Amino acid sequence: MTNGERLFRSNCRSCHILPNPKSQTDSDWVVLVNRYGSRLDLATEIQAEIIAHLQSMN
Ligand code: HEC
Repeated sequence: MTNGERLFRSNCRSCHILPNPKSQTDSDWVVLVNRYGSRLDLATEIQAEIIAHLQSMN
């Protein structure tokens, strides 16, 4: 498992089930990870790793 995947799995299912990476486009993932990552106070670098993971899986 990559670091980005680990960060995604640990941070993105506290409020809902883990979203399907295929459900969004590359640009939508940038917007969504920023929106929800900000609610968790995730650092920009952490958000970037999650975004890169989701963009590699969609
Ligand atoms: C603080 C709670 C919370 C966390 C943490 C959270 N989400 Fe969400 N998320 C929500 C809520 C609430 C909705 C439903 C929004 C709506 O329908 O108006 C949602 C909806 C979504 C959706 C559906 C599409 C959309 O436009 O709403 C996606 C995709 C998503 N979240 C991705 C993520 C990702 C990726 C992470 C991790 C970085 C994450 N969420 C972490 C609360 C959270």
